[in-house]
Amino acid sequence: MYANGVRHFIDTSDLTKEEILDIVYLSLEIKKCIKAGYYPPLMKNKTLGMIFQQSSTRTRVSFETAMSQMGGHAQYLGPGMIQLGGHETIGDTGKVLSQLIDVVMARVIEHKTVVDLASACSIPVLNGMSDYNHPTQEIGDMCTIVENLPRGKKLEDCKVVFVGDATQVCASLGMICTKLGMHFVHYGPKGHQLPDSPSAACVEILEQNCKESGGTFEYGDDRDLVRGADFIYTDVWYGLYESEMPKDERVRIFGDYQVNRDLMSLGNIGCKFMHCLPATRGEDVTDEVADSESSLCWDEAGNRLTAMRGLLVWFTQYQRANAPSELQQAAAQENLEKFMFERGIQ
Ligand code: CP
Repeated sequence: MYANGVRHFIDTSDLTKEEILDIVYLSLEIKKCIKAGYYPPLMKNKTLGMIFQQSSTRTRVSFETAMSQMGGHAQYLGPGMIQLGGHETIGDTGKVLSQLIDVVMARVIEHKTVVDLASACSIPVLNGMSDYNHPTQEIGDMCTIVENLPRGKKLEDCKVVFVGDATQVCASLGMICTKLGMHFVHYGPKGHQLPDSPSAACVEILEQNCKESGGTFEYGDDRDLVRGADFIYTDVWYGLYESEMPKDERVRIFGDYQVNRDLMSLGNIGCKFMHCLPATRGEDVTDEVADSESSLCWDEAGNRLTAMRGLLVWFTQYQRANAPSELQQAAAQENLEKFMFERGIQ
């Protein structure tokens, strides 16, 4: 999304294939630097505002850590801590934040909230998850897939199967895979497949992506759809928040879609397991899969940090390019010191 002269990351479709790959490879380069002990000060003196209308572990901790590792600072603006949704409109909150900080991320209940926020902001807005999609998760997931490509395969050769409920993570995983020319499947029960979900609008995007990229998209409740998977991915059944359904109903609807050893055996040899987490162990995934050698879910959680660093640097590049020169900074310092000296202020 482009508004008020800046790029925002509201939806995986905001980026071209080339831009997604640029961010993924930038993220992996910064990861290598930090592993080698060099912390690039690419967010020096910058402040990130982190709006959370819902709870979070990975998104909150990874954004905050990314900022501090690159010389910046993050402010946690949790539920009830700012005026958003109270007396102040979302638009006014966006205009105010644009005066106070350099970049904002927002985890919101309704997708419209983050769209409205971005429409008002003149600083980049990154969607930290809405009921429609979870784009920052998918950049991290793509870092994990790139690091774990099956031997001899390129991204375009890989089949990714999302199993279970058509959550916002399923939608954004589908968007990024099809954008990159990969083969994406949603295997889930009737009534809970992507076209029936709150993210149904993404189906048209997935189909268009496939036409442009050569990728494929299939969905259905036929277990054979899982065969030949290189990556099997799942998420919690029926969301984490207010909309959660009782356990017996979840198990009745999704019980056949648990990722267990039997389901993993349908994938290719070397097939990897992925989960955005948090997992409901014993429901969406068994312990033996989550804790197996094939499980990438812990690397995936680590790559949330990898991706947040790349995203923050990429979306604030315009700000760095337009930063005052060293000469301008020295002149400003001299003026302030002269002003204070003339008034006897120490
Ligand atoms: N995967 C994910 O977004 O985790 P959190 O809800 O803990 O941020």
